[in-house]
Amino acid sequence: MSTAGQVIRCKAAVAWESGKPLSIEDVEVAPPKVHEVRIKVVAAGVCHTDWEYLYEAEKGMKFRPFPLVLGHEGAGIVESVGPEVTTFSPGDKVIPLFLPQCGECERCESAKTNHCRKNWANTQVGVLADGTSRISYQGQQVYQFLGVSAFSQYTVVPHTSLAKIRSDAPLDKVFLLGCGVSTGYGAAVNTAKVEKNSTCAVFGLGAVGLAAVMGCQVAGAKRIIGVDINPDKFAKAAVFGATECVNPKDHTMPIQEVLVKMTDGGVDYAVECVGSPSIMTAAFESTKDSCGSCVIAGWTETGVMNVKVEKILMGRTLRGTYFGGWKSVEDVPKLVNDYMKQKLKLDEFITHSLPLDQINVAFDLLRTGKSIRTVISL
Ligand SMILES: NC(=O)c1ccc[n+]([C@@H]2O[C@H](COP(=O)([O-])OP(=O)(O)OC[C@H]3O[C@@H](n4cnc5c(N)ncnc54)[C@H](O)[C@@H]3O)[C@@H](O)[C@H]2O)c1
Ligand SMILES: [Zn+2]
Ligand SMILES: [Zn+2]
Repeated sequence: MSTAGQVIRCKAAVAWESGKPLSIEDVEVAPPKVHEVRIKVVAAGVCHTDWEYLYEAEKGMKFRPFPLVLGHEGAGIVESVGPEVTTFSPGDKVIPLFLPQCGECERCESAKTNHCRKNWANTQVGVLADGTSRISYQGQQVYQFLGVSAFSQYTVVPHTSLAKIRSDAPLDKVFLLGCGVSTGYGAAVNTAKVEKNSTCAVFGLGAVGLAAVMGCQVAGAKRIIGVDINPDKFAKAAVFGATECVNPKDHTMPIQEVLVKMTDGGVDYAVECVGSPSIMTAAFESTKDSCGSCVIAGWTETGVMNVKVEKILMGRTLRGTYFGGWKSVEDVPKLVNDYMKQKLKLDEFITHSLPLDQINVAFDLLRTGKSIRTVISL
């Protein structure tokens, strides 16, 4: 029986307020409006950004209204499409995107950036193009985190924030390409443009950092140094290509000095995947002078990083990456293909698997460093 055009009642993990665990509620998901697509979410991951927003809202992140449904790393199947949607049909496998690609704006037309701003202001505050969300609880609007809300069995996204992927892709693996893995991998291959035989350091070995390690390896780096204060991450880093790992806690010297010493002058590329301004400074200062390059992938919207001007004057570069520099709608399907052709690892990121009603356990596993990614089955 088709549900198209009807309100769907389903389960979602609702964040009622900051600092409190999510609660599983029966929500209503309205049909898609013009240029929107309603999807049945099949699998989702908890990214550090979800955790940070729930537990550290207004510390490192700007305010976004509650109640909201978090989750911006997911994969699903199109249930129905709104008016004027021509590129998706019910049954298509898809990955919702927190970064759109409208294909028409100046930024989409530029090869220099992936920062499309279609519906940007609205999705940043949890609503779609018409200023409202499609999810509600007993008549009360529930906001959509980054315009996605993957922790709901159904959600509605703009058609410019959705990637159609091949029909044989396993959704319980490729959901990772909705955020963490694409971000870290792209930070290395697109933003840093890591070169063959180079020396790299990756700070933070969560999903984003491990994906950056994988990117450095795919790019042919000869030395890839993983940096983390949790040594339990080191074995996994080796699986993705780290040639050695360092724990800053094992040293009395600042970690940047340790790395400069280890590499006889600094690394060619450093990628920060923690989200802490002091580690961003350390990553930047660990690069070699004359041509070292540091890419910031770790997230903070309010943090301020300390940069010694002399370090820049001596020829280093500092760049940020958003979603790994990928043009979301067109590149995510290509990354799925690369996974299917075994050019890209995904399975190795998944350490746990839980149903939606245990999603708070997945948040704890991430915070305590016990998981890389938990796949949440909806
Ligand atoms: N730029 C983007 O588009 C984008 C996209 C996704 C995630 N992010 C950000 O990337 C970061 C990583 O996300 P994740 O999901 O991999 O997180 P995660 O929590 O799984 O991993 C973070 C890692 O950093 C390590 N760490 C903490 N303090 C450290 C220190 N002082 N020195 C070295 N390592 C330290 C932790 O032990 C952990 O292994 C977050 O800040 C997240 O918000 C950015
Ligand atoms: Zn994320
Ligand atoms: Zn655009």
